[in-house]
Amino acid sequence: MMDRKVEKYRLAIRILHWVHAGAFVLLFLTGLVLFVPVLGFLAEDSWTRVIHRVGATVFILAPVVYTILDPRAAIRGIKQALTWGQDDIVWLTAAPRYYFLGDEQSMPPQGSMNTSQKMWWFMVLVFGVVFVITGLVMWFGKASVPPSILRWMVFVHDVAFIVTGAMFFVHIYLSVFHPLMNESWASMTGGKISVRYARTHYGKWYQEVSRNKERKAR
Ligand code: HEM
Repeated sequence: MMDRKVEKYRLAIRILHWVHAGAFVLLFLTGLVLFVPVLGFLAEDSWTRVIHRVGATVFILAPVVYTILDPRAAIRGIKQALTWGQDDIVWLTAAPRYYFLGDEQSMPPQGSMNTSQKMWWFMVLVFGVVFVITGLVMWFGKASVPPSILRWMVFVHDVAFIVTGAMFFVHIYLSVFHPLMNESWASMTGGKISVRYARTHYGKWYQEVSRNKERKAR
C-alpha cells in the first residue's frame, strides 16, 4: 500500500531555502578564497570579491522578500527558532544514542523541527544577522569607519564563517546522508513526507496538523 503524504515545506519556504543556500555556497567558496592564504591568488583580480558581493546581496534580499510577501510566516518561523523548552533538553540528552545507535526510545515527540534542526535554524538566524552587519560595515565603511573597528568586523565575520561553515557540513550530512533522516531530502525538494515519517520524527507537529484538518473538515 502506498504511504499517505503530508506537506512539510511549502513551495515558498523551499524556494527561500534553495536561493539562500545557493547564495551561502557562493559566499562560502569566495570567502574561503579570501580566508585561506594559499588560495589568495584566486582573489587577485578581484572577481571573487565581486561574486562575494553578489552572493551577499541575494543572501540579504531572499529573506527580506520572503518576509514582505508573508510576514506572518516569517514571524512564526523566527518564534520557532527562539522557543526552547524542557523537551529540547531531554532531546539533546538522548540525541547521541539516537544519531549514533538509532535508539528512538527516549526521544520526546518533536514539533515541526527537531531540536538539532532548531539549533541550525537558530544559528542561521543569529549568524545571518552577524554576517550582514559586519559585512555591510566592511563593504560601505572602508573610508569612514575607524581601522580598529574594521579589524573587529573582519574578526567577527571570520568567526561566524568558521562556526557556520563547520555546521553547514553537519547540516548537509544530517539532512542528506543520515540513514534516519531518509525523507529529509524529499521534504525540501518535493515538499512532502509520509505520514509514517511525520509520526515518528515530528509527533507533536503531526498531531497538530491532523487536528487542524479535522477542525476544517467539520
Ligand atoms: C547547499 C547545501 C544544502 C543542502 C543539501 C540542504 C538540505 C536541506 C534539507 C534536505 C533540509 C530539510 C531537513 C528536514 O526537514 O528534514 C534542510 C533544511 C534547512 N536548511 Fe538546508 N541545505 C543546504 C544548505 C543550507 C544553508 C546554506 C542554510 C542556511 C543559510 C540552510 C538552512 C536550512 C534550514 C534553516 C533548514 C530548516 C531546519 C533544518 O532542517 O535544519 N540550508 N536543508
